[in-house]
Amino acid sequence: MTAESKGGTLLIEGGHPLRGSVHVSGSKNATLGAMAAALLVPDDCVLENVPQIGDVEQMARVLRSLGAAVQWQDAHQLRINASDLHDSSPPTELVGNLRGSFLVMGALLARLGEAACSPPGGDVIGQRPIDVHLNGLAALGADVSQQGDKFVASAARLTGATFFADYPSVLGTQNMMLAGVTAEGTTTVVNAAAEPEVQGLAGILNAMGGRISGAGTHTITIDGVRELRGTRYRIIPDRLEVGTYAIAGAISQGEVTVRGGCLEHLTSFLSKMRETGVELHEEDGALCVEGAAALKSISLQALPYPGLATDLQAPMAALLTQAHGVSYVHERVFDNRLLYVSELRKMGAEVVTTGTTTAIISGPTPLVGASVRALDVRAGAALILAALAARGRTEISDIYHVDRGYERIDEKLSNMGAVIERR
Ligand code: EPU
Repeated sequence: MTAESKGGTLLIEGGHPLRGSVHVSGSKNATLGAMAAALLVPDDCVLENVPQIGDVEQMARVLRSLGAAVQWQDAHQLRINASDLHDSSPPTELVGNLRGSFLVMGALLARLGEAACSPPGGDVIGQRPIDVHLNGLAALGADVSQQGDKFVASAARLTGATFFADYPSVLGTQNMMLAGVTAEGTTTVVNAAAEPEVQGLAGILNAMGGRISGAGTHTITIDGVRELRGTRYRIIPDRLEVGTYAIAGAISQGEVTVRGGCLEHLTSFLSKMRETGVELHEEDGALCVEGAAALKSISLQALPYPGLATDLQAPMAALLTQAHGVSYVHERVFDNRLLYVSELRKMGAEVVTTGTTTAIISGPTPLVGASVRALDVRAGAALILAALAARGRTEISDIYHVDRGYERIDEKLSNMGAVIERR
């Protein structure tokens, strides 16, 4: 099965402590931004350290539908050439299941003076408005309207402006950077997202000749340049993979070394992991994880960066089912990202939710194998983690969700001793 086919099941026999090391892939979300950036120039852009995952394949389809050539040069190197862009509007069925596809709005508007895109799909994790994106493009002087099922933006030439984002939206900030990088004058995004993936986009845009400063803080300044050029750019490591494999080591009571990550991007995660009693140390840039005999319960809040990533909220909840005492998990970014709780309960977890944003977990509970379903990429990862700690066999269906964001997760886990089979 390829990373992009729907369905797929993983069978995991729990109770085997993981031992060994794992190398993290390039960041999914940083790759999607870099792919959109390649639309800004008629030259070749070569992206290195690109993960082979479903969402990258889907974004490649979106780019091809616009006329860009997207080719794998080797297992992790993608060449994109947008010299022949013939369309400013990707088909609805292609953008419908990939949130990151909405980044083509900013890039196409800057390159072609027009863009039209239906509301992007993505995981079912709560309301996902796009007001920040649309208001931001309008602030740069674009005419923005809704026509049929598409949002349409057009501008002969974008003009820099100061824009206050109501929420520090990651993709909203990235759309502003893609649109503002060649606008006339200076754009300032106030209350910008500070996530490492935003820093990654600034990295490629500056390598292309852009002049963006402040990425990684909540104020980003974009001095518009007349022209950009193609580049070769290495995608940053996936911080969410680092977190997921670190939890895999801890929850299986194993000893795991996670290599190739950027631990600077994980300060909040490492701090919360230490609070649970998991032994962590850094060795030559790698993260060494040792499961503790008795984990401690904690409270955590998923927040915009540098807070704990919402994408690690469900994986952390899986770990906390093994902690002594009552843990509180507050999701503060999305308003409905606890749907995985019902699947965890099928495995014996004692979790109650209050509203749609707080989970209260009592532990430790012995987890048992069950038939469960991956509801989205991170919910699926959380079930895989729970399965590693469960007695007996867990069958996780719809594993394509996990394959959208994690490269060969079954192989990586099995190399460390997990008993895992794909069907
Ligand atoms: N929001 C608004 N207005 C907007 C946009 C967002 O109010 O115009 C609110 C949303 O309602 C939500 C919050 O902002 O409550 C966060 O949304 P954000 O826009 O920051 O998320 P996103 O950009 O759509 C990206 C990642 C997500 C990740 C979030 C938060 C990509 C492709 N997706 O989504 O990744 O959870 O940032 O860090 O970059 C994943 O990889 O599993 C994933 C879902």
